[in-house]
Amino acid sequence: MPACGGAAAVDVVVTRLDVGPGALRASAALLSQEERHRAGRFAFECDRRRFTVARARLRQLLAARLDIGADSVELVYGERGKPALARRVAASNLRFSVSHCDDVAVYAFAFGREVGIDVEAVRVIPDADDIAARMFSRRESEAYRALDPSDKPLAFFSCWTRKEAFIKALGDGLSHPLDRFDVSFEPGEPARILRVDSTPGDRCGWTLYSFVPGPGLIGAIVAQKAIPGTIREHN
Ligand SMILES: CC(C)(COP(=O)(O)OP(=O)(O)OC[C@H]1O[C@@H](n2cnc3c(N)ncnc32)[C@H](O)[C@@H]1OP(=O)(O)O)[C@@H](O)C(=O)NCCC(=O)NCCS
Repeated sequence: MPACGGAAAVDVVVTRLDVGPGALRASAALLSQEERHRAGRFAFECDRRRFTVARARLRQLLAARLDIGADSVELVYGERGKPALARRVAASNLRFSVSHCDDVAVYAFAFGREVGIDVEAVRVIPDADDIAARMFSRRESEAYRALDPSDKPLAFFSCWTRKEAFIKALGDGLSHPLDRFDVSFEPGEPARILRVDSTPGDRCGWTLYSFVPGPGLIGAIVAQKAIPGTIREHN
């Protein structure tokens, strides 16, 4: 992945969530009361641990970029649940997005441009063809149907993560109709938004990136366009 600094860069961080008891305790100590309540509501211990570590890491990553303490980070939630910085630090114009899959969390950060990120494990799912027919746009589902079966698992999750990253950048969640935009995902095709409504992708104001956060995983990032759009990745 290209690496370059500058205020317009999108920073991507990949973190493992299964940690030892000491690190878990340290993570829990960074959470707000509301986040501790949320952690307590998970039915499974494993989900509780992963949420705790992922949220503490988010606080640390935001704090490092804002030069404040991790426990001073204040988050608010958009109408559809997208987290953002509270007004007190919102003037920094730092935007971020989070996604998790099993014990991996991925984070995207950018100053002055909205971002969305998504990660999935590439796997064979029995009803993938039906899901593609229901969830992908017409162009996407036709392109998916025409693929060689051996290409389908990666293509399916490439399309899925790219669409998900876009709706996460918009903050709309699933209220955003998934057939209103097309993304590329065929083998050998560069990651691109092909269309948003009737606007061609190269004029839609958003840039799509694909990346591999780890073995067996596929990730996507959508960012508002900025002058030389670049990605910087850390582990
Ligand atoms: C809310 C949604 C973002 C959840 O996504 P998900 O794939 O289940 O979960 P992810 O791990 O990728 O993302 C979860 C994170 O997204 C963030 N998030 C929640 N609501 C969000 C919203 N409206 N916009 C952007 N980000 C949001 C949160 O940070 C959350 O992490 P947290 O709970 O630890 O704070 C939503 O898009 C959704 O329900 N998607 C379902 C999947 C789907 O059908 N996709 C269609 C693709 S073809």
